[in-house]
Order: sequence, then structure tokens, then C-alpha cells
Amino acid sequence: MPRPISATVAVSSLSHNLQRVATGLQQSCSTARPRRPNIWAVIKANAYGHELEPAVRGFGQADGLAMLDLNEAVRCRELGWDKPIMLLEGFFEPADIAILDEYRLTTALHSQEQLDMLTLAKLARPLNAFVKLNVGMNRLGFSEQAYPAAYQQARQLCQQGKLAWAGKMSHFARADDDAVTTRAQLDIFERCTQGLQGPISVCNSAATLTPGLWATVASNEEQWVRPGICLYGSSPFVDQTAASLDFRPAMTLASKLISVRDIAPGAGVGYGHTFTTAERMCIGIVACGYADGYPRHAGTGTPIVVDGVRTRLVGRVSMDMLAVDLTPVPQATVGSPVVLWGEGGPSVDEVAQSAATIGYELLCAIAPRVPRKVID
Ligand SMILES: Cc1ncc(COP(=O)(O)O)c(C=O)c1O
Repeated sequence: MPRPISATVAVSSLSHNLQRVATGLQQSCSTARPRRPNIWAVIKANAYGHELEPAVRGFGQADGLAMLDLNEAVRCRELGWDKPIMLLEGFFEPADIAILDEYRLTTALHSQEQLDMLTLAKLARPLNAFVKLNVGMNRLGFSEQAYPAAYQQARQLCQQGKLAWAGKMSHFARADDDAVTTRAQLDIFERCTQGLQGPISVCNSAATLTPGLWATVASNEEQWVRPGICLYGSSPFVDQTAASLDFRPAMTLASKLISVRDIAPGAGVGYGHTFTTAERMCIGIVACGYADGYPRHAGTGTPIVVDGVRTRLVGRVSMDMLAVDLTPVPQATVGSPVVLWGEGGPSVDEVAQSAATIGYELLCAIAPRVPRKVID
């Protein structure tokens, strides 16, 4: 029998979360902006650990899918996705361009090297591209000074039939925690792209969920938002839970107790004895450890649900096991169900906070050895 751990992905929650984003955008439409932005559902990193197949189904109503791995893009086409696919980092070497051509992939153009590769490429049909501006993330994208020439070069590629159109994109560094910086970064974007034709794409989850931010973009060009994390039911904001924003956890990490033991007062539990019992205590051992992707830095007190009752993790997380306090769950026995995060358990964001990380990391880090189950 395999270990009793699994990560269950609920396709209906993915669809609900997408619909929640679409409805929020629709509600911030006005007479000046009657049409909501198109939505790229971001499914990079194997759909934030949820796997591509359920994501392609769950996000069936999205206007496009965005990712950065060429193989994942091809896989989405093989799974039947016929709408646009956007490569957030574009292509990496000249040979990639043939794949973009064959699979009709929209590309980001963030560097002079990419423009040069495209200039030399032979294509069966023109590609769609977003020229990326660096507004202060300082990761990818042309500087404000370099952008006009880069965009101009992309326009020339349109004239040469290599691009069908050239859009404009950027990525905010602090949309989750600093509205002033985000506004300033949007101002840079607007100053730099003013008068340049083509679709716009600037908003990640946090910016998409910031009421009406998209509608303050000065240009009336077609807009594409790029939400990722919220579509999986995790909040991009530290001060707002996913549940309060009406997002549902798409992944539930569950396991079972494989041992239950009474421990004498003053005894240490687990490696390093970082937890010592103050009094006689019942401890449960769960089949889940850091080799499954559960964070080793989640310490004593991290929330966990055993047999429907919320309790806490105690001691250090081991490679394959962790220990929980069964004081509030006296009925628990070997085989009792455990929810580490997701439906019926703590949110992935709560666990992440206890481990001084973010929900993104935990979702992406689920190990291949954890069997995935997909439910509709
Ligand atoms: C360029 C780009 N757009 C959109 C996203 C989606 O961001 P989030 O998951 O915060 O919505 C990411 C994620 O890192 C990104 O790199």
C-alpha cells in the first residue's frame, strides 16, 4: 500500500476562482471602460504545483494561459487549448522561435537579444508579442530609456511580417503591499508607452484584485491581466485571507496518522528535541515530511487539522513524518485523517506564514512522490 498522503486538486475551485476574478473585473467596468480586461490565467511552474491537465480544464473560460516553459506551452496545446498562450519570459535561443511559430505562442520581448534573434528568424506566420518595460522590478524588461527604440524595432518586425502586433507589458514589484509604489510604477509605464499602439498587460493577482486599478490605466487599448496565485486559492496580500476574498483552495494536502503515542512529561519529541512535553501528552505521527514538500521550517504551533479538529504541529518536521498534538482530538487513532492545508484544513497561507514563507512556494514545492488526485 502506498503512503497515505495525497494532493487533491479540485477543478471546480480553479473555475470558481477564475470566475471570481472575472466578476470582480466586470464590477469595476464603467461607461468609460465598458469591457473588462482579458484574463491570462498564469499556469507557470506546472500550474503552481497543481499540474497542467486540471489547470487547462479549470481555466477553460480564461481568455489565454500564461507560463514560461516551452514544453508546458506545447503540452497545453496537446491538451487541446486553442486560445492564446503567452510566454512570460519569451524565448531563450533561436531554435525556440520555430516552436513559437508552430504552436502559435505569444511572446514577451524583454531584451535586445530577443529582438535580434527574431530579426534573423524565419517564420511561417507572424507572432504576437508584448514588449516588456522595466518599471522598477529590475528583473526583466527594457529600461525607460531603451524602451522607445525597442518598441520601434518591434514595429519594424510587424512591417516585415514577423510580428502581427506589438503590445506593451510590465510587472509591478509591490502590488501586494505598497499602493504608492505601484501607482508610481504605473505612471512610469504610462509615460513611457503613451501613444504606442497595442494591447497592454501589467496586472498580476495583487494588481488585478486592487479595486479598479486596471481601469486607471490611461490608455483605452485592450488590456490583459495576469493573475496567478489567487486562481489557486491563496491570497497575494498578507493582510487579507483568500477566504475573505472568496477564493477557494484548489489544492488539499492530506494524509493520515500512522502512529499515536502517550508521552511522559518532560520528554522531547522529534529531531533535536525542539519540543518538550510539559505534562503527559498524546502525540500523533503524520505521514508527511519535508521530502513531500511540507516546509521543514514550520515549527511548533503550525496549524493542522486531525479528524476534523484543528490542532498544532509540535517539534521539527522530519523527512517523511511530522508530529502533532492530539490533546484536542482524544478520539484520534492510527488512520485518522489529517489535512495539512486546503479544504477542511488550515489555508496554505497560514502554514506558509508559520514557516516564514509564502503560499506560492509551498504549492510549487509539492514533491513528485506525492500522488495527485484530481476531482471535478
Ligand atoms: C510576469 C508575471 N506575470 C504574472 C505573474 C502572476 O503573479 P501572481 O501569482 O502574483 O498573480 C507572475 C508571477 O510571478 C509573473 O512573473
